[in-house]
Amino acid sequence: MKKFITFEGMDGAGKSTHLANFADALRARGHEVIVTREPGGTALGEQLREILLQQKMSNDAEALLMFAARAEHLAQVIQPALAAGKIVISDRFSDATFAYQGSARCMDWAKLQALESWVQQGLQPDLTLFFDVTVAVSKQRLANNVSLDKFEQEQSDFFERVRAGYHRRVAEHPSRYAVLDATQTIEKVALQLRTILDTL
Ligand SMILES: Nc1ncnc2c1ncn2[C@@H]1O[C@H](COP(=O)(O)OP(=O)(O)OP(=O)(O)O)[C@@H](O)[C@H]1O
Ligand SMILES: [Mg+2]
Repeated sequence: MKKFITFEGMDGAGKSTHLANFADALRARGHEVIVTREPGGTALGEQLREILLQQKMSNDAEALLMFAARAEHLAQVIQPALAAGKIVISDRFSDATFAYQGSARCMDWAKLQALESWVQQGLQPDLTLFFDVTVAVSKQRLANNVSLDKFEQEQSDFFERVRAGYHRRVAEHPSRYAVLDATQTIEKVALQLRTILDTL
């Protein structure tokens, strides 16, 4: 059974839309499931989220704060839940840091890999659902939002690099991912998730 599952993909890809139903489907099969998110998941992490999503800062500071929040998240929430036999589903995890800080902000991949080794000590999700959308679709879905955070306000070239960063991570660790065509309708994406659930 896959115990640590992450949802990844660009802003507007549909992660949050499908996460609760996916968790409920696993609960219906008798699993204990906790749902969490990054940045966030702890009191400290949520405070860091506020700062990270609103405040401009250097690339290094941004990456370090992401991993600081992740260290706390692992220690306080993820590791204890996995040790207790629960399934953990996180709305974003370190692939997002590689996509946004690594690829989109053009940071050195090796620096992030060093932080990843330090903070995660070899722990990786058992399964990552990558909601793949085009930049055009992502933009269209965010168009109705009244307030956009620091990342959502970025231009299309930034999001093209985010998407390329996710694809680079998938290429580096292909066995960990299920790639969904998230440009489809909500119903069709839900069907793709059903198929994945049946393979768990
Ligand atoms: N397949 C879809 N077709 C059309 N609209 C969709 C689809 N999936 C999600 N949406 C809509 O797009 C918007 C963004 O979806 P959602 O919040 O689930 O994205 P997200 O991946 O969680 O984004 P973020 O990274 O910003 O949290 C919502 O208004 C949602 O209703
Ligand atoms: Mg979301």
